[in-house]
Amino acid sequence: MRNRKFSRYASPFAAASVLVLALSGCSGSSGGGGGNASGGGDAANNQDGRGPITYVQGKDNSNVVRPMIDEWNAAHPDQKVTFKEQSDSADQQHDDLVQHFQAKDASYDVVDVDVVWTAEFAAKGWLQPLKDKLAIDTTGMLPSTVKTATYGGTIYAAPQSSDGGLLYYRKDLVPNPPKTWDEMMNMCSIAKQNNMGCYAGQFQKYEGLTVNAAEAINTWGGKIVDDSGKAVVNSPESKTGLSKLVDAFKNGNIPAEAITYKEEESRTAFQDGKLLFLRNWPYVYNIASKTDGSSKVADKFGVAPLPGKDGPGASSLGGHNAAISVYSKNKATALDFLKYMTSAEQQKNFAIRGSLAPVLSNLYTDKDLTAKLPYLPTLLTSIQNAVPRPVTPYYPGVTKAIQDNAYSALKGEKSVDQALSDMQNALVAAGAK
Ligand code: GLC
Repeated sequence: MRNRKFSRYASPFAAASVLVLALSGCSGSSGGGGGNASGGGDAANNQDGRGPITYVQGKDNSNVVRPMIDEWNAAHPDQKVTFKEQSDSADQQHDDLVQHFQAKDASYDVVDVDVVWTAEFAAKGWLQPLKDKLAIDTTGMLPSTVKTATYGGTIYAAPQSSDGGLLYYRKDLVPNPPKTWDEMMNMCSIAKQNNMGCYAGQFQKYEGLTVNAAEAINTWGGKIVDDSGKAVVNSPESKTGLSKLVDAFKNGNIPAEAITYKEEESRTAFQDGKLLFLRNWPYVYNIASKTDGSSKVADKFGVAPLPGKDGPGASSLGGHNAAISVYSKNKATALDFLKYMTSAEQQKNFAIRGSLAPVLSNLYTDKDLTAKLPYLPTLLTSIQNAVPRPVTPYYPGVTKAIQDNAYSALKGEKSVDQALSDMQNALVAAGAK
């Protein structure tokens, strides 16, 4: 059942992680043996524990989490869930989780794990292996989503929502969306005529920039690491890809303020009518469609595949999974909640209320959903063709290598050549071959 395409990224780094675990096991961590990936230590504790728990997740932009928790709490008065909402920045969410795991905090019971953090958190022994009596059923889930929750052959989280990049475009101004990046750039004169910015994605220095830079690199045939985990980013293909973003910043097709954009800032610019094209995730569809006056573009936008070199571009694979902390005291409750929040019913709720991407493949042809979210086939294609970011326990160093150097290039502080050469060296320093 292993997906070869994905595990080719995973294997070299995964091998290194075994060494890391072996070493940390020898040094003996204080306070309870330190959880480990084999299920001993903290992972062995409290598997039958029941009682109140806390669920930790980044900002609930789509307002889908609270109604779900309210429903759970009404049915489970002795096992209530408290929602701890983090900020809307992926990097801050990551750092908050790391701090609480390092402190062995028992009050972070169920945590939302971005697909790129699974390897790091699992290798550190912070996530409860979902096996034996804690096993979950992944039947019917998109294989790529299950892979993002798996590390070293063990499932550490329940796939909850997937994510694939989409192009939001103003259909009142551009009847036919561009199929290629160059076509899109040629349409920027329409933006000028209408006094608006042409294109934006997420370019602040954080995980979203890694996503956008990787998409540019992958779309033009470059790679960050190759099949054996070797850093290969310094290539002519990557140069073409990254240059497309750098040139668009230089000539104003990407407005200068987009260097400060995360998902939410770029979503706001688009729905305020300030952008002709926006690269963002599926959640934007629901919020930008609101007819309560909050969106100026409610009935004026369409959704298309990301534009690429000769056809659709390569999205980075995004998404979020729900995991149980090895330090939780109430793991039986945590498991029930995890199953509930990833059930088909909640997946459908999340899609209807928040236009989030389901992980269950049959929901992409569900009649209620396709009626409400007409772009679902486009989204499914985006997810199925999406390229995973490197899978490695050293991901913080890997993403920093990408973010720092892509950011310097976009700001014009480094040439694209210099940025890619520095990125290559920083990837190697971070643990890639
Ligand atoms: C979305 C994606 C996630 C990604 C993040 C970057 O939340 O689902 O995978 O890392 O955006 O900001």
